[in-house]
Amino acid sequence: MRLTILGGGGFRVPLVYRALLADPERTITEVVLHDVDAGRLDAIGRVLAALGSLPVRTTTDLTEALTGAAFVFSAIRVGGLRGRVVDERVALAAGVLGQETVGAGGIAYGLRSVPESLRIAALTAEVAPDAWLINFTNPAGLVTEAMSGLLGDRVIGICDSPTGLVDRVLRALGADPGEVRIDYAGLNHLGWLYGVHDAAGRDLLPGLLADDKLLETIEEGRLFGNLRELGAVPNEYLHYYYDPAGTFEALRSAPRTRGAFLLEQQERCYHDIASREPLQAWRDAWREREATYMSENRSLTGAGEREQDESRPAGYEGVALAVMRALARDEPATLILNVRNRGTLSILDDDAVVEVPCRVDARGAVPLPVAPLPGHAVELVRAVKTTDRLILSAVATGSRDAAVRAMAAHPLVGDAELGARLVDAYRAELPELAYLA
Ligand code: G6P
Ligand code: MN
Repeated sequence: MRLTILGGGGFRVPLVYRALLADPERTITEVVLHDVDAGRLDAIGRVLAALGSLPVRTTTDLTEALTGAAFVFSAIRVGGLRGRVVDERVALAAGVLGQETVGAGGIAYGLRSVPESLRIAALTAEVAPDAWLINFTNPAGLVTEAMSGLLGDRVIGICDSPTGLVDRVLRALGADPGEVRIDYAGLNHLGWLYGVHDAAGRDLLPGLLADDKLLETIEEGRLFGNLRELGAVPNEYLHYYYDPAGTFEALRSAPRTRGAFLLEQQERCYHDIASREPLQAWRDAWREREATYMSENRSLTGAGEREQDESRPAGYEGVALAVMRALARDEPATLILNVRNRGTLSILDDDAVVEVPCRVDARGAVPLPVAPLPGHAVELVRAVKTTDRLILSAVATGSRDAAVRAMAAHPLVGDAELGARLVDAYRAELPELAYLA
């Protein structure tokens, strides 16, 4: 079975390849890497060659890459890290959050990601109609919803953050993942864990929320001060919504943005891969990236270093492999994924892509029932879904005004005049947004 990775020159591709090599059944027998940047493609090809011997082919031709694929893994970054730097800098200069996927920066990113992802979805439907498309391209929920218009339920969005959160909480509770039923729901980077039910139907979560010592042992307990009041453990990205002033200030006063740090680091890393030992160069850069993930938020709250624990289930590559195994081998798995709602959350329509536990087997990913969202989550989810829908309409119509309305609808912008300034500032710096008129 062939896996095609779009964004194949990306920094995380060796993680995916390593996961494929570690799969005892070797579900994937051949990998095709596609990227628009031949130099990065070549560099990552070298890292993979040093990692193992699963056949890899590289191409810059999208039709060739998609044809014959059983799985398409889309992990592209339209505009590259340079675009991410603009997303962050323009927002911070306007006095709002400058972040990859949340708020003004996330909207600008969505306005770039969606048009290209629609082209990919259309071509996939044409040349690989039976393929499963696993989407990691951010903003992952928005992009998955856009692609679902063309691919239906054959597109499945993934993210590592819900799995990581649930893993930390279950470890703290000493609960066995196979024995519990989870209430985790929301949108991508906007979800909450609000129930952990054991085999006897008891909810174990209130016990954790009432135990300050135990809460201190998990990252979310240190990051958020109000878990008991929420009755839930929020995804780490909720920190931007619960402390907008603090997180803005932490990002504004950082010596450089996350994107600027990664841009510099990656230029160095890709150069090193070409000029010295490829695998070591990549490993060094990856460790540094992991260790500095969301560091502004963690230093703001005193949450400390990100825990590095080799025994943890793998990150997004682990989720991607688990999805592919369940689909290809008809090995049922329960995973938190981005799929069409189909009645799961009553506050959203059936076609809205939501992030919820799903049962995955050869027929696809089907959302499992969850308890209704906590009251405090409802307005936020609605507002961000409204924003996403306005982004989709801006892309469909090429309307600058729709993009402005998307900004205004987002809780971390919330103002039409500011929204207009942001959209115009982004349009001035990002050639990919020239279509907005
Ligand atoms: C997590 C999120 C991704 C996001 C990434 C950013 O993995 O799930 O959606 O892109 O963090 O990490 P970075 O190291 O690029 O700041
Ligand atoms: Mn994510």
